[in-house]
Amino acid sequence: MKKKILRSLSCTIAFCAIGTLNGYAQLNKTYLDESQPIEVRIESALSQMTLEEKVALCHAQSKFSSKGVPRLGIPEVWMNDGPFGVRAEVLWDDWAVANVTNDSCTAFPALTCLAASFDPELAAMYGKALGEEARYRNKSVILGPGVNIYRTPFNGRNFEYMGEDPFLAATLVVPYIQSLQQNGVAACVKHYALNNQEVWRDSVNVQISDRALHEIYLPAFKAAVEKGKTWALMGAYNRYKYEFCCHNDILLNKILKLDWKFDGVVVSDWNGTHNTREAALKGLDIEMGTFTDGMSKTEINAYNNYYLASDFLRMLKDGEIDEEVVNDKARRILRLIFRTVMNTKRPFGSFASPEHFAISRHIAESGIVLLKNQNNLLPLDFAKIKTIAVIGENADRIHSNAGGASKLKAKYEITPLQALTKRWGDKVKITYTRGYGSYTPTFEGVIPSPYNADSLKNEALKVAANADVVLFFGGLNKNRHQDNEGFDRQSYDLPYGQPELLIELAKINKNIVFIIASGTATALPFEKDIPTIVQGWYGGSEAGNAIVSVLSGEVNPSGKLPFSYPKKLEDCGAHAFGEIAYPGIKNDQKYMEDILVGYRWLDTKKIKPLYAFGYGMSYTTFKYRKATTDRKEYTVADTATLTFTLTNTGEREGAEIAQVYISQPKASVMRPVKELKGFTKVKLQAGETKTVKIQLPVKEWAFYSETSQSWVVEPGEFVISLGASSDDIKHKCVVTIK
Ligand code: BGC
Repeated sequence: MKKKILRSLSCTIAFCAIGTLNGYAQLNKTYLDESQPIEVRIESALSQMTLEEKVALCHAQSKFSSKGVPRLGIPEVWMNDGPFGVRAEVLWDDWAVANVTNDSCTAFPALTCLAASFDPELAAMYGKALGEEARYRNKSVILGPGVNIYRTPFNGRNFEYMGEDPFLAATLVVPYIQSLQQNGVAACVKHYALNNQEVWRDSVNVQISDRALHEIYLPAFKAAVEKGKTWALMGAYNRYKYEFCCHNDILLNKILKLDWKFDGVVVSDWNGTHNTREAALKGLDIEMGTFTDGMSKTEINAYNNYYLASDFLRMLKDGEIDEEVVNDKARRILRLIFRTVMNTKRPFGSFASPEHFAISRHIAESGIVLLKNQNNLLPLDFAKIKTIAVIGENADRIHSNAGGASKLKAKYEITPLQALTKRWGDKVKITYTRGYGSYTPTFEGVIPSPYNADSLKNEALKVAANADVVLFFGGLNKNRHQDNEGFDRQSYDLPYGQPELLIELAKINKNIVFIIASGTATALPFEKDIPTIVQGWYGGSEAGNAIVSVLSGEVNPSGKLPFSYPKKLEDCGAHAFGEIAYPGIKNDQKYMEDILVGYRWLDTKKIKPLYAFGYGMSYTTFKYRKATTDRKEYTVADTATLTFTLTNTGEREGAEIAQVYISQPKASVMRPVKELKGFTKVKLQAGETKTVKIQLPVKEWAFYSETSQSWVVEPGEFVISLGASSDDIKHKCVVTIK
């Protein structure tokens, strides 16, 4: 291939008259010619670049950009957070916002909400709309999506990821990337790999079996590379095998670049680079975010003193590092530039458009999970309801502007209270009271709440006593330790005295709905006392409208949980082995639960969760009828087809996410009780029946063999379980793999 490119390149050069202009050599412009194959253009540019220019590509020049090649007219690379929208501009060398006025974006729902929709079509809509926003803002790379696996409810960034199941995350990340990149904007999938907690994220070394690595923590990244064809990927802060993940021989050179044939760019997480030789040789391509203290203050901390800057150049010049090393990085970066900012055919994008807000709302509505609906309190019956008590800070608080790198300057975010008032304010009497008061702990410690909890509570009880229904908007709020980058949670309980308040409110008013904003599970020990519970996530710009649509029944909820809700923290695999498993001891951590993450752990250990992975209710009901497979025997190369009928047995239209789990009861290695291997969302009118088929490629039923270091489908009996959730299996089929 390389020979062919060089031959084609030399032909092109021969046809171009390379003269001189006032003593300067004229450029060969093949790299600008979009009719040429991209690899030819890369070699054309590379062959005309100086060593200094190649090195300059490999590190930041500002907080969010890296250099192009100005002399050759090759543009800079502009990156931006993040997974849920295009982050506001910051200053050149400072995290402070630039205060420009053209960067107020559409805020899309957090990725846990997208995951709860179990809907690849929505993932594609999400990626397309976000890509259009990024393109309009002239960004070449969006720093997202995040696909780290939800290992513990404590992880401060769970809301940025797609849940606890590798198959679910892998299925959704592919269309997200593909449709985002159709805009000529690269996805930068993060954080590769094993960045599953924020405690000691910059240094913790993860010890994990090869099997858990490949079966649980890598599949979504692998799908992003092999199927999604992501053009960029971000290294994680933490360490694996005592090497930082931003320059990690096994993760980057071997698995990513050699095994998965990744031809894109590895970007470091901001300040995740630690050493020039390692960064040069162990897979990093662009170093971002290493400490600087303001360009003008000291030369020593300026961008040209990044690891992959002057030190790298010196080592190349001294022959300590071979020039092919920088050539490989430069090729990858040029490829990224040609695919994005130098693609003259890429569309122009659009920004904060009504269409994007509509998409954001549709995704927010589709992800909301109805967890409990005793006495069918929901949807609310406005023939009977005259007064509503709205209680809880999250009723009147926006969330898209917080959480760390994913925070946004949204053009607007509708709060639940605003949406309620706008849509029902003239029909019912709505009274809002705060109920509880949150406060932000400082770095030094926890400061006392500025609120008087007793008077907030007394007021809430008074308002609740006089209302037909109580809507309690609580949960977490992206404060430090409450779903926030850099800070894991410190307790599984709900903060700010919410449990006590909820219990008292429920005694006073039986018609209470608890709407949870969060990206992670929390303890709900009072669950039996609260008749109605909704997982509302962080819904982005249209959060309030989405939740109100579900409460009123304009939208029939169809989301299902992308992670389990254990009753107590110790029921979660990562917390069953003490400190060594979480958060680690002296920066060393062992994933003792191994492959048994989430429902895999709960099922295998026979622990009943409060709410299971895949669980979620609807305002209608569904009936699954007997499932059959197209055959009884398959080979590894086959795809099994599971067929069943699904009927909407209720009185309104709705959608059901049917799930297929695979088990191998007898195997030479331990296998989880069941693992998700297929799902589909079926929309049904009241009374309608559909025949549904789910394709199940047998090769995906493999386990990762540590002995052969490869994926193995062991012949024998497999059970295919069809269910409405991981703990609600409706039918089973037994098949044999030859
Ligand atoms: C985060 C990344 C983010 C980057 C740039 C880091 O702290 O871990 O997810 O993309 O900052 O804001």
